[in-house]
Amino acid sequence: MNSNVRPETMSRITTKELADSFIAEQIAEIRAQVGDKKVLLALSGGVDSSVVAALLIKAIGKQLVCVHVNHGLMRKDESENVIKIFKDELDANLIYVDATDRFLDLLAGVSDPEKKRKIIGAEFINVFADEARKLEGVSYLAQGTIYPDILESIKQAEGKKAVKSHHNVGGLPEDLQFELVEPIKLLFKDEVRVVGEALGLPHAMVYRQPFPGPGLGVRCLGAITRDRLHALREADAILRDEFDKCGLAEKVWQYFVVVPDIKSVGVKDESRYEGWPAIIRAVNTTDAMSATIEEIPYEVLHRITDRITKEVDGINRVLLDLTPKPVGTIEWE
Ligand code: XMP
Repeated sequence: MNSNVRPETMSRITTKELADSFIAEQIAEIRAQVGDKKVLLALSGGVDSSVVAALLIKAIGKQLVCVHVNHGLMRKDESENVIKIFKDELDANLIYVDATDRFLDLLAGVSDPEKKRKIIGAEFINVFADEARKLEGVSYLAQGTIYPDILESIKQAEGKKAVKSHHNVGGLPEDLQFELVEPIKLLFKDEVRVVGEALGLPHAMVYRQPFPGPGLGVRCLGAITRDRLHALREADAILRDEFDKCGLAEKVWQYFVVVPDIKSVGVKDESRYEGWPAIIRAVNTTDAMSATIEEIPYEVLHRITDRITKEVDGINRVLLDLTPKPVGTIEWE
């Protein structure tokens, strides 16, 4: 699949049969492209990199080396799940790198959102490159590029300005130039999901809501501190758990908690209790260019508020963000 243009004759992958034939075609193409060489992949655990990993494991088994970088900004249990699925269940050749300290040390005291994004993006490449240099005989880099990424780069090449700097593993240093393997680059997201299910990946992983590259880093507003990041991760896990239980997880495109760097006065155990607010954001969209607000029943909001304020140290209020995009972007930073 060398062309970056989706042929008009390519049918939309909507069924398991179509996905199976796409998978068979890709396995043959990948084998023909890489032969007996090694392929490296940054496996974040997102849908795209997971589908690419599963496809490559089917095609070339242990010739694929997956590197999972935990930047310390993952959601609760996320890295553990990547290890469980890929290392334990799919027997992947997986290198796990806990780079939490590297990232959080660099981010300490940095409050500007774009600076934070740049630091996270650049350090991600540094950590990944450090791992790549330790490996021998790697000739290829696999990437979970999908068709909207290609359309977006075309738009940017035409001079349209991006609102926020997104990152992927594109910009590796000069000494690490690999040939690319991009088996899903002509697919739209819905097709990637159908392929993922046909490959046997868990439903929760394939239908996982989008999660930004800089992770919780852009939801722990301002200068990140470990205690506030921990509170955010715990509050977010409660929101996800409650959305799972009441069925909203299947209905809402993206939902998460944001914790700003402000404190208000509260009361707990009859004493003054200063804490941060947890802000709930739940949006629906088709293309992330604009977004509407999902209605959350009050009883669910009350339950979430009750749990977060009781279970999460440092949070003393829960707020709901009702701002559509535009005018707010989906993420706060
Ligand atoms: P915004 O905040 O721009 O977000 O309205 C639109 C969608 O993009 C996701 N997002 C990112 N995804 N890397 C990503 O892969 C990033 O740096 C990034 N920043 C935002 C955001 O979660 C939303 O789904």
